[in-house]
Amino acid sequence: MTTVACIGAGTVGRAWAVVFARAGHDVRLYDALPGEAAGRARDGARRTLELFAENRLLDEPVETVLARIVPVESIADAVSGASYVQESVREDLDVKRQVFAEISQFANAEAILASSTSALPGSEFMGAVERPERALVVHPVNPPSLIPLVELCGTNWTSPDTIARTKTFMKEVGMKPILLKKEIDGFILNRLQFTLVAEALHLVGEGYCDPEDIDAVLTDGLALRWASIGPFEVAHLNAPDGMQGFIDRLGPMMRHLGQSARTDYPWTDAQIATTHASLCERIPLDTIAERQAWRDGRILALRRMKQDVPDPNS
Ligand SMILES: NC(=O)c1ccc[n+]([C@@H]2O[C@H](COP(=O)([O-])OP(=O)(O)OC[C@H]3O[C@@H](n4cnc5c(N)ncnc54)[C@H](O)[C@@H]3O)[C@@H](O)[C@H]2O)c1
Repeated sequence: MTTVACIGAGTVGRAWAVVFARAGHDVRLYDALPGEAAGRARDGARRTLELFAENRLLDEPVETVLARIVPVESIADAVSGASYVQESVREDLDVKRQVFAEISQFANAEAILASSTSALPGSEFMGAVERPERALVVHPVNPPSLIPLVELCGTNWTSPDTIARTKTFMKEVGMKPILLKKEIDGFILNRLQFTLVAEALHLVGEGYCDPEDIDAVLTDGLALRWASIGPFEVAHLNAPDGMQGFIDRLGPMMRHLGQSARTDYPWTDAQIATTHASLCERIPLDTIAERQAWRDGRILALRRMKQDVPDPNS
């Protein structure tokens, strides 16, 4: 059994705590906001664990797993003795630099030091880490307690051994790691996600459709395929002669659409306000927690379905 430190107990940090505790590790959870780690974060972790239990995806009582998550009052208390540290503080370069300097001061020499950053290359804030070869980005998808993909991305200094040990550890705790070959802002997932969002803002902004139509195109269309096969395999299966045949038929159209897509669309504050208002009509702000719980249940149901209908090619 290993001790894991989670630094930052917000949306992502508390979900990470569930991942590690569910896999049997002792978790020390620290947040700069007094009471956050002991209060809202533990309540959130309990709700997630109850959801796992309701879906028959928890082998132990909720209280047993929850008891492994121990709130602590300083970074030093969290990281000393931990063999893996997952930082999930605010997305701000200066804050991350400062937090990593403190983590590396108190962490074991062999501990892996990982950041949840959504878009910042680790080389921009891990340079001052003592023994920077043990630090890297481990970017999750929110919430990592429910969505297994993680993106591993080394820095200018990360050692192959750190990458290999992190990959093994992530698999052990039930995650599905992919490894970036080099650093890029936003890694892979957010570059794909926000390219799509940018074009969606363009389509709505220019009056081609309403925001709810964009959501329907994904949830009743593209995402039904994408939960099982990625876009390259979609192309491969959508022509009798595979990807090459698909490109022979539809390549010119793909190029034309790619060239006319507006990833640089100058959306305005007014457009965001209108889209926000449209979302609030469908999902009033005071129902967000309820809707998150519904989303989490759906994600778990989808994961169960994927277990029940396994991919014979993986
Ligand atoms: N929310 C997402 O969808 C998502 C997904 C993947 C990755 N991330 C990344 O995870 C990280 C955390 O995001 P979040 O959404 O959980 O943010 P959040 O605002 O919900 O939580 C951040 C927490 O960090 C704490 N904090 C701030 N400064 C601190 C410090 N110096 N020491 C300790 N704690 C400190 C805050 O009190 C807060 O509780 C960010 O880097 C973010 O980019 C977020």
